[in-house]
Amino acid sequence: MKFFIDTADVAEIRSLIDTGFVDGVTTNPTLIARSGRGMVETIAEICGLVEGPVSAEVTASDLEGMLAEGRFLAKIATNVTIKVPLTPDGLKACRVLTQEGHKVNVTLCFSPAQALLAAKAGATFISPFVGRLDDVGESGMTLIDEIIQIYDHYPHLNTEVLVASVRNPLHVVEAALAGADVVTLPPSVVRQLYNHPLTDKGIALFTADWAKTGQSIL
Ligand code: G3P
Repeated sequence: MKFFIDTADVAEIRSLIDTGFVDGVTTNPTLIARSGRGMVETIAEICGLVEGPVSAEVTASDLEGMLAEGRFLAKIATNVTIKVPLTPDGLKACRVLTQEGHKVNVTLCFSPAQALLAAKAGATFISPFVGRLDDVGESGMTLIDEIIQIYDHYPHLNTEVLVASVRNPLHVVEAALAGADVVTLPPSVVRQLYNHPLTDKGIALFTADWAKTGQSIL
């Protein structure tokens, strides 16, 4: 399962790169706004840091606007993935941009039917939002299971399931158990993945016992 980082904070991305776990980046208008920087310069900088796909989201809501913005964003760098919303015009834009050879991430997916449409429109990635479904009392992970089950029936559909709106390590584990292709992680969740109290306790014990031996390896 690939790990993308869900942020437009370049400093955070820089600090995570040497973990070796950054396979790509996803951004959205909220994350760009939170960064306080210009979108184009931010996406360009991220694309220079990360070899994998970097999602940049269109903000137009009509087909022509999405196509124009998508083509513009794709010129920023070869690893830009154009992100479009799951609307009728978004899926038309997805089909056209895919046919032009661009990678497209269809975002704001909340149902298996929407995910099926995105795959039929040729999406490179479908982004189901698990956290936001959990927030309204629905099961985000049931959605992931159902999308994977549907896509598995039709091997000619090449759309990768990109689990988004991830809030905690359990989402990551459940996405992996379900066989998701990608999970996009806020930096805080990446850091949480390392943690277990028994790891800390074990290190403290080994360190104390080692000190008693008076030895040193080097
Ligand atoms: O980029 C889309 C997504 O991951 C948003 O997450 O936490 O705003 O629901 P969140």
